[in-house]
Amino acid sequence: MLNEAFWSSKYQSKSTHWNAGEITKPLKDYVDQLKDKNINILIPGVGHGHELKYLFNQGFKNVYVIDIATEPLDYIRKQLPAFPNERLIHGDFFELEGSFDLILEQTFFCALNPDLREKYAQKMNDLLSYNGKLVGVLFDFPLDTIGLPPYGGNKEEYELLFMNHMRLIKIERCYNSIKPRIDRELFIHIEKKND
Ligand SMILES: C[S@@+](CC[C@H](N)C(=O)[O-])C[C@H]1O[C@@H](n2cnc3c(N)ncnc32)[C@H](O)[C@@H]1O
Repeated sequence: MLNEAFWSSKYQSKSTHWNAGEITKPLKDYVDQLKDKNINILIPGVGHGHELKYLFNQGFKNVYVIDIATEPLDYIRKQLPAFPNERLIHGDFFELEGSFDLILEQTFFCALNPDLREKYAQKMNDLLSYNGKLVGVLFDFPLDTIGLPPYGGNKEEYELLFMNHMRLIKIERCYNSIKPRIDRELFIHIEKKND
């Protein structure tokens, strides 16, 4: 049910309550301390692309984004005409092939059916390059109240999930959340389980 048509209809009806309007502070602070602007970065479920815009304006050269809906990608094309079109990928994250040094998580995990969580963790591991990192925020509230996203979880659940597939570095209370998400977010830093 959480397919392309579902997400497209959200964008068409402008029911995009997840849209923070700009890069969120946890992601901005993380990006600001990155030194190497040549790393390959992926933003899955990119939506309006605020993180992409920030990275692009900061001079990060190799950023790729994917979204299952075309509407947000069209929006980004208009907002950032200089961004290479071939890096705006329309498709399903679970079918993406590639190798990335960093994958940024921002309200993508919570948008997926919870049945896909094991697959998400495995796919993240597969998409990361040697020592690659999955970094970002996950919601910290009960999983499912009305049967629709955003789906939450908690630190213990997330640790168990990611330990099975990846190298857990830290999952901790996010200290710099944007106001509506204060005390409802965990910051994650998880790395590829190298073979
Ligand atoms: C809750 S929105 C978050 C958008 C953006 N990350 C933000 O924070 O504004 C979830 C996004 O994931 C996209 N999405 C959902 N399932 C997907 C999938 N399997 N592959 C790629 N994108 C997907 C949706 O189209 C939507 O843009």
